[in-house]
Amino acid sequence: MTRPRVLVIGSGIAGLSFALKAAEWASVLVVTKKSRADSNTNWARGGIAAGLGPDDDPALHLADTLRAGDGLCHRDRVEAVVREGPARVQELMEWGVRFHRENGELSLGREGGHSRRRIVRAGDRTGREIERALLSAVARHRHIRLIQHLLVVDLLVEASPEGRRCVGAVALDHRRGVQVELRAPTTLLAAGGAGQVYLHTTNPTVATGDGIAMAYRAGARVANMEFVQFHPTALYPTEDPAFLISEALRGEGALLRLQDGSLLMEGRDPMGSLASRDVVARAIHQEMGRRRQSHVLLDVSPIPRATMEARFPGAVEGCRARGIELFATGIPVVPAAHYMCGGVVTDEMGRSSVEGLLASGEVAFTGVHGANRLASNSLLEAVVFSHRAAEAARSAAEPPGGGPSRVPHQVLDSPHGPPEGPLGPNASEALTERRRLVRTLMWNDVGIVRTDRGLTRAVDRLTALRAEEEDRWTREGWSLAGVELRNLLEVARLIAASALLRKESRGLHFNVDHPERDDERFLADTTLEGR
Ligand code: SIN
Repeated sequence: MTRPRVLVIGSGIAGLSFALKAAEWASVLVVTKKSRADSNTNWARGGIAAGLGPDDDPALHLADTLRAGDGLCHRDRVEAVVREGPARVQELMEWGVRFHRENGELSLGREGGHSRRRIVRAGDRTGREIERALLSAVARHRHIRLIQHLLVVDLLVEASPEGRRCVGAVALDHRRGVQVELRAPTTLLAAGGAGQVYLHTTNPTVATGDGIAMAYRAGARVANMEFVQFHPTALYPTEDPAFLISEALRGEGALLRLQDGSLLMEGRDPMGSLASRDVVARAIHQEMGRRRQSHVLLDVSPIPRATMEARFPGAVEGCRARGIELFATGIPVVPAAHYMCGGVVTDEMGRSSVEGLLASGEVAFTGVHGANRLASNSLLEAVVFSHRAAEAARSAAEPPGGGPSRVPHQVLDSPHGPPEGPLGPNASEALTERRRLVRTLMWNDVGIVRTDRGLTRAVDRLTALRAEEEDRWTREGWSLAGVELRNLLEVARLIAASALLRKESRGLHFNVDHPERDDERFLADTTLEGR
């Protein structure tokens, strides 16, 4: 019997864990725009939060997550994540992920906002270990095919009695310059985040918001795009991407200091250097501005040197490679864009508002993170909702009564015609310049601290730039850099427009013109219908 086909866009933890589940009953095609390991997952340093410690309990993890989320978490979704998380972590180990152990037990780290040690990790390179194991499990699976360097440009959408139905995607083999149509009755969008929308980010260059942009263009609902998390400790000077110094160092005792040696967080928050990320990032931003200083310092002297070498080899080697004497001087750090809490709205099973389109991972808005994500909750959210999405996909493929799905199970993965118009240059100087312009504009006007004036200016400018880019798009043909810029502009505009709608300050969204939280008017998600 022919197996139903499933298309997965993205090769991070959300896409690969879903693929491994769906391959139990389907024939799965995973596509990724660069090489297989180019994903945000691969760059994740911290780990996965799971209430596994002897003093821990899902109820405590729930309480910490709700507190960080500042009133906007969807409680039922958080309950699902903290309840099902430990089983999913166990599954990762069965797929071959080697988490750090001490005396045979999982070694649990601590990060900001957590009241207990609950971060399951592999040194400070957890994402890399997860990606390694999942890619190797996928490579062994005969019902999964992974194609690299295939850039999905847009989703294929048809009218359906319920509204719109996704029947696959159009992709660009950008190294050969050919267009490819991928048809499947079920598509999982797992294309990751959008950190590249900002000038300074810990996200790899592939994180251009492709998934959110294409889902929005396909008519999917998106929500809470104003909640962008800035990580307080990216290595200064920032590279592209910025080198992330894990929050787990502060969990082990490292302290944030100003350049004169005084404690940055003293008198600001009872949790001190381990306060939640929004609070710490804003404090650093404020002090750097007030003192006209380029960075602050992370003092690692409270952590024994042997512990530093054993638990944080990434930070130690990264600093040494750049000539930073971290034990003598501390680590120079600044905030950088890190995580998108909003995204494509999904239900409790990972289904988007477009039939046939599921979403999981950073691209999705599940309601778990609210106005501020608790550290290390994202990989957890990804595995829990990819598991649920795989269940939903299975039920859709096997409707009650056993009838066939209405969309033909066909994946056309051979080239079938050129893209419309000539193929544009892959990364012309002009495209690079326009990308930098968008990222600078976002950093200045839609960053850690916002104003009504800056947001209005950003929305106007981005709307005009998007129109210009769409026009160029139809005239010049497609290229990898052009597709990414088009998506960056779409997502940048969604972030700025959502931020302008929220006339209060809450969690990661801080507007000096509306510095207070306003529960009467804004205790709700900011939802935008797809175009
Ligand atoms: C970190 O290690 O600081 C990053 C972890 C996360 O973003 O959840």
